[in-house]
Amino acid sequence: MAEDLKAKIITEKLPKHIAVIMDGNGRWAKKHGKPRVFGHRNGVKAVRETTEAAAELGVEYLTLYAFSTENWNRPRLEVNALMTLLVETIRGEVSTLNKNNIRLQAIGDINKLPSKSQKALLEGIEETKNNTRMTLVLALNYSAKWEIMQAVKSIANQIETKQLRSEEINEQTFENELSTSGIPDPELLIRTSGETRVSNFLLWQIAYAELYFTPILWPEFRKEHLYRAIIDFQNRERRFGQISEQLTR
Ligand code: FPP
Repeated sequence: MAEDLKAKIITEKLPKHIAVIMDGNGRWAKKHGKPRVFGHRNGVKAVRETTEAAAELGVEYLTLYAFSTENWNRPRLEVNALMTLLVETIRGEVSTLNKNNIRLQAIGDINKLPSKSQKALLEGIEETKNNTRMTLVLALNYSAKWEIMQAVKSIANQIETKQLRSEEINEQTFENELSTSGIPDPELLIRTSGETRVSNFLLWQIAYAELYFTPILWPEFRKEHLYRAIIDFQNRERRFGQISEQLTR
């Protein structure tokens, strides 16, 4: 079944960058009569499957929204469990990432994570930095509004210190200050669990992204679901403001 779907994917039209809002861990746990943390633990399986499927296909960047700035407002026990899970997962997966030639990166206000999480993350990034097949970007303590604000502050500072003139500000100078600098914009954004919001994720970068919503709860997300999202993406006409007849495909 999953293999049949995989065969339908046109390699030449693969999105270079896929971003995912992993949602529904809590509801999945509730459905199984378990605490929310059980949902997050099972969410790691979906992270593994999605990463493997994306790398096998030849996707170059996969960005996963693992912890938003707003997530600090959750019960302390859940926040602590998520942070522990993050450390365990990164430590546990580094060798698999290396085996599969996958580079780990992170976006977000990393300095505000607990020191243990920061350490595991920075080690994971360092140990995988030479891998070239795919980049797995974890959005951690990330919020698009925060990211845009800090880019604005950085540009204001460059102007104040006369490193930049206001006439020189353009999309490129702005993008250079985002935490995704150097990463192509996602062409496909997937959100699981039936919610149809963007939730402060990559607001600048998704200007032209195709949005794909699925009712699947994140812990149940498997390779076939990623394939379905990509097939749907490939069946859409991406016009970037042009009319159909102008497109050369
Ligand atoms: C959303 O479900 C999920 C999260 C906020 C956390 C995602 C984290 C993981 C999958 C595990 C760790 C990941 C990595 C990359 C190491 P929710 O809790 O908002 O679910 P709900 O909407 O049903 O309550």
